[in-house]
Amino acid sequence: MGKSIRIAVVGSGYVGLVAAVCFAEMGHEVICVDNDERKVRALQGGETLIHENFLPGLLHRYGNTRVRFTTDLSDATRSSDVIFIAVGTPQSGNGDTDLSYVEAVACEIARSLNSYKVIVEKSTVPVYTNEWISRAMARNGAARDLFDVVSNPEFLREGTAVADFLHPDRIVVGSDSGRAAGILEDIYLPLTTGEYYTRADAISGHCNVDQPPPLLLTSTKSAEIIKHASNAFLALKISFINAVGNLCEATNADVEQVARGMGLDRRIGPRFLRPGIGYGGSCFPKDVAAFRSVAEQLGIDFNLLSEVEKINVLQKKRFMSKVRSALWTLRGKRLAVLGLAFKGETDDIRESPAVEIVRMLLAEGCSIAAYDPAAIKRTEEVLPSGPSLRYVEDCYTAAKDADALLILTDWQEFAELDPERLSQALRHPIVIDGRNLYDPQVMSGNGFTYLSIGRPPAHPVSDLASISAPSARSN
Ligand code: UGA
Repeated sequence: MGKSIRIAVVGSGYVGLVAAVCFAEMGHEVICVDNDERKVRALQGGETLIHENFLPGLLHRYGNTRVRFTTDLSDATRSSDVIFIAVGTPQSGNGDTDLSYVEAVACEIARSLNSYKVIVEKSTVPVYTNEWISRAMARNGAARDLFDVVSNPEFLREGTAVADFLHPDRIVVGSDSGRAAGILEDIYLPLTTGEYYTRADAISGHCNVDQPPPLLLTSTKSAEIIKHASNAFLALKISFINAVGNLCEATNADVEQVARGMGLDRRIGPRFLRPGIGYGGSCFPKDVAAFRSVAEQLGIDFNLLSEVEKINVLQKKRFMSKVRSALWTLRGKRLAVLGLAFKGETDDIRESPAVEIVRMLLAEGCSIAAYDPAAIKRTEEVLPSGPSLRYVEDCYTAAKDADALLILTDWQEFAELDPERLSQALRHPIVIDGRNLYDPQVMSGNGFTYLSIGRPPAHPVSDLASISAPSARSN
């Protein structure tokens, strides 16, 4: 068992909360700080606040023992050796990152320093943030030999956050101080030595004792850039395949076949080549904009990123055209919408392309019955139900008497619909799939008109037969 380190994690959002319980799982003593008293009370009471696999179990095991929750940052600072800053870094009006929460935390830490501490940027921040944190701390009275600031970006995905944290592809530690880097290396020893994976109760994933994750030591600036560049590159991959999908639609080719053909090239790889209605969530849209803005400020021409954003915005508009192409006019049409979350396995709707498409459909005068396994509550807060929008409890209720069914989020549940029940529920057997969850041939065989992304439209086999029948007679 590695040595237990006293850690404070500031911020109890996706990254902060997951990091806090995972550090506890790795054997460390953790204090998780949030200035929202309501959240802290809920966490102390065992509520998880976010929909995330393994989180309830870990919180139950370590809550109020190895992970304590508090609003008192000064006390947490004094009681810890390493402080991870995992507060929100929202987007400001011009695409820049708003770092005011990070600065406020740094200032308060500075005022509470009682011994040497390592301050760790865990939130996604632009290059040079490390220097700003150091400066802000020094201005608030922190002696320069009492702290180091390192960058340790996080690469977890919502929905699989705990497994991603404990089974990372890599751990990046950006530090210009050997002392601080050594402490970070100690924190991750249970993972990098593979010891964690030998435990009978370890959460399973792709790492194991023979293949533990590598820890990459870099300069602080490189680590900051690695995070932005990784997210921007993944977003680029998605926009690229979406643009290829549009090309496939124009030529009657099949983007799924093209993506498979590309992905088998190990230099390209198959992941993040799933076409759809565009990327969303709290990270990609914000991080692409922030990275573009950093480049602009440094006088670097990185217009490629603007194109990535442009394709992503267009993708939703193209989906709307697809709906129109199937239904002709939209005013007064009844639509079943499956999916509100920005992707499957999460209740998060931030920057969700699904929610944006629902808004556009409502603006066009459609009436919608929407279902999502986890995100209805959050969506209701921004789009309350009313005469044109109902939230329902399952897929078939949504489909009842609808002119078409739209699939907007890639929940597994939506890939397993019973075609017969669906067809009985719908007024017209039309499915418009923004996530390519079905095989077009199977759908047409089941009597559906099926439109998807980057693939030729599929029509019911009976329709095709009736189209070919007259020519057969004329022979
Ligand atoms: C993303 C990154 O994948 C994480 O590595 C990173 O740590 C995280 O942002 C972050 O910066 O905190 P996340 O936002 O949870 O994670 O979601 P992803 O699974 O990456 O999906 C993002 C969006 O891209 C979703 O809307 C998803 O539907 C879409 N997507 C993803 C596609 O359209 N096609 C794909 O092939 C993959």
